[in-house]
Parts: sequence; structure tokens; C-alpha cells
Amino acid sequence: MAQRRSKKKRSGREDFMLKEQSKVEGGMLDEKTIMRLGKFFTHNIISRLMYMVGRGKEADTYIAQSGLDIKKGYVAVKIFRIETSSFGARIDYIDGDPRFGKIKPGMFNLVNEWCKKEFSNLKIANEAKVHCPKPYMFNGNILAMEMIGEDDVPAPQMRKIDLEEPDKVLDIVLGDMRKMYQNNLVHADMSEYNILIKGGTPYIIDFGQAVVLGHPNAEQFLKRDVKNILYYFYRKYGIERSQIQVMEYITKGK
Ligand SMILES: Nc1ncnc2c1ncn2[C@@H]1O[C@H](COP(=O)(O)OP(=O)(O)OP(=O)(O)O)[C@@H](O)[C@H]1O
Ligand SMILES: [Mg+2]
Repeated sequence: MAQRRSKKKRSGREDFMLKEQSKVEGGMLDEKTIMRLGKFFTHNIISRLMYMVGRGKEADTYIAQSGLDIKKGYVAVKIFRIETSSFGARIDYIDGDPRFGKIKPGMFNLVNEWCKKEFSNLKIANEAKVHCPKPYMFNGNILAMEMIGEDDVPAPQMRKIDLEEPDKVLDIVLGDMRKMYQNNLVHADMSEYNILIKGGTPYIIDFGQAVVLGHPNAEQFLKRDVKNILYYFYRKYGIERSQIQVMEYITKGK
């Protein structure tokens, strides 16, 4: 095992799950979202929404029991918030992406595009064999994807783990960034928050803001991603890698 977690922490996590489950059952989701979720049940993607695992600025992520069409037992369901959304600031990641034309006005349309964009980005990354969740389905502001974890316990974020083999993890992350780039994709929000660690292997998540190489800021986003990742591994593990060489490794041959 490349991760150390005490029994005490794990039972705390279980307490947390129970509390979060009661929120789901207590009706924290609005009516329209519940209607849109219905499609995930009828399409046999999920059979029960269990508990919330992540609460972000723009989205809440839940763990669900899978439906008949999904081989694995659990599914991650990311629900983007519409009303309290701070998406305005993120328009730059859609505008300029040649895959997207003019978006109709209104917050719902923007969130809908964002969700569709995360789905398409995950598809590209999956086909490129990047360690990341497999996307299953999206509908409006809801995205269902493979849950990264063991049984019903989602894998923790890298920032919460002391890695036993940080060099190896860094190599996998940089290798995945290369695979993305070679398939025209730049993640654009790489950090210790958006990498989950399962059995010592890193999995990249949160692809909403990822852009294709045709985006005018793609190179700049890549540089920032490389800088963030290298700085984290330097700060926490004292690993030194040359930013210039890593950039060359990722982009060479393209
Ligand atoms: N596929 C998944 N499997 C397991 N856990 C996941 C998965 N996707 C998300 N999570 C959990 O939910 C948290 C939030 O997910 P994510 O980073 O995609 O959204 P976010 O940061 O809230 O979104 P945004 O950056 O758009 O605000 C993650 O840190 C992780 O703990
Ligand atoms: Mg995130």
C-alpha cells in the first residue's frame, strides 16, 4: 500500500459518510435536479444516490450505487450548481475552444456546456489511456462517471496522503500529461486537489476546464500545470525536476 491511513481516520470518514447520506435523504437537491437525475436511473447508470463526497465552488459530487448497465458497483455523480454558480469567471475556458460555438445566454446553458465539456474531455483522456474516471453519461448539469476508489470508499486527494513512492507517482502524472497533450488536450487545473490516489496510483479528475490545443491559451495553461505539479512535489518531497525538460518531454513529437 502506498498510502498510510489510521483506523481512527477511517471511522471518522464513515461517520462523515453517514452524515452526508442523511443530507441526500433529507432532500438537499432541488426539484429540477432530481428530475434530471431520473434519467440516470432509467438509463441504468445509477440505482441509489448514497452520500456527498466533495463540495466545490461550482459542483457537488456524490457517490451512487451503480445501475444494471455499469459493471463496477459505484458511480461518481457530479452535480453542477446553477443558481449560486460562479461560472462567469470560467467563460475563458469555453470561449476560444474551437469545439464550442456561441453559447446561448443564461446560466443554465453555460453550466450545461461546461458539463458536456467535462464529459468530452474525459472521453479524450480515457481514449488516450490516461489514469482518470471513465465518463458514463451527462444530462443538463449532471455528469456520471466511474468512481475512483475501493468498494464504496472514494480514493483520497493526493494532498491528504503521504506518498511512499512520490517519484513513481510524479512519473505517472507527467506521463498522463504527455498522453493528454499528444491527444490535443491540456487539463488546465492540475493540482494536488485534482489527483486522487488509489493503491498508490494517481488518477486525474476534474476535467471541466481542460482545453484543446487549438485554444489560444493552451500552452500557457500547460506551463502553469507543470509548474503547479513540480512545485508540489518539490515542496512536499524535495523532488527536483527541470521545468524546461518536463515541458519538452510532454510536448516532444507534437
Ligand atoms: N470519479 C470520482 N471518484 C471518486 N471521487 C471523486 C470523483 N470525482 C470527484 N470526486 C471527489 O469529489 C471532489 C470534487 O470533485 P471535482 O474536483 O471534480 O470537483 P470540484 O473541484 O468541486 O469542481 P470544480 O473545480 O468545478 O469546482 C474530489 O476532490 C473528490 O474527492
Ligand atoms: Mg476539483
